Amino acid sequence: MTGLLNTTGYNREEDEEIELKLRPTRFDDYIGQDKVKENMKVFVEAALQRGETLDHVLLYGQPGLGKTTLSGIIAHAMDARLRITAGPAIERPGDMAAILNDLNEGDFLFIDEIHRLNRNIEEILYPAMEDFVLDIIIGKGPAARSIRLGLPKFTLIGATTRIGLLTAPLRDRFGVVHHLEPYSVNDLRTIIIRSSNVLGVETQPEGADEIARRARGTPRIANRLLKRVRDFAQVRYDGIITHEVAKDSLDRLDIDPMGLDAVDKKILRAIIDKFGGGPVGLDTLAASIDEEAGTLEDVAEPYLLQLGFIQRTPRGRTVTRLGYQHLGLVPPVEQGQLLLNEL
Ligand code: ADE
Repeated sequence: MTGLLNTTGYNREEDEEIELKLRPTRFDDYIGQDKVKENMKVFVEAALQRGETLDHVLLYGQPGLGKTTLSGIIAHAMDARLRITAGPAIERPGDMAAILNDLNEGDFLFIDEIHRLNRNIEEILYPAMEDFVLDIIIGKGPAARSIRLGLPKFTLIGATTRIGLLTAPLRDRFGVVHHLEPYSVNDLRTIIIRSSNVLGVETQPEGADEIARRARGTPRIANRLLKRVRDFAQVRYDGIITHEVAKDSLDRLDIDPMGLDAVDKKILRAIIDKFGGGPVGLDTLAASIDEEAGTLEDVAEPYLLQLGFIQRTPRGRTVTRLGYQHLGLVPPVEQGQLLLNEL
């Protein structure tokens, strides 16, 4: 095995290979997101019946909810090729023009983190999405002129964790806009059982349940935890993922019974210990725990908000009564003080 070893000793290439195997390729194998799935199936079938390409699709939602997976399924259902790129990878307008120029009729182009495209690159996309043309400027200054190249009809699938950061002209050019929601524990359990079959590991229903409850509503996390629990099951136990094996392994990984990890706890403790329970601004909070504000906002915060452990107020983030209780602390309101967000 020639893969790169990362600092934790896992073989990253092997992990990525497994990751691909775990991804369903057909709608029937894609669990959860029922509304999005049913609607997309209709749009795909309608386009197929008319012999047309699908309208451009925008998928938004937290990281790890399956935006790329769903795009693969859509392209597969239309028997089309999927080209994958990401906003930060497209640095110059020429890069975008080259990607578009390389497309064939009916291809799907997936742009992850589409909110991170530069404005001048975005502007190339407008006529490409709307009229399937590429406007190229040749020359500079007064001699500059624009030539228009035709493009094959393609479908753009844009994915973003931050719909609010998309400009209105870009957002408006998508014919289909879908929001992916966090998954229920039930759906995650089903995904874990399916992934166990793909990986060839025996997982008992109670074991799958324990992993599902700690997976923060996210299939990517569920699959990651499953792989690590499988390691413990193999080395420390007899290879079967029982409830005890799952619980013990996840405890060792510092994933608590609600799925909070060390970073989540650090956030809650910082708001409580350093800022009196809040409110504290995102940047100040991020600096105080040496994390990136963006990561905090995209990855940790949505789950803490979803659990009701923190609140967003106009003056910053505060820890709620539930948040205090989860850490085994007495909320200030019960110490005779009122929580600021309850004033
Ligand atoms: N793996 C990642 N997302 C999935 C989903 N929604 N259904 C099944 N397997 C998945």
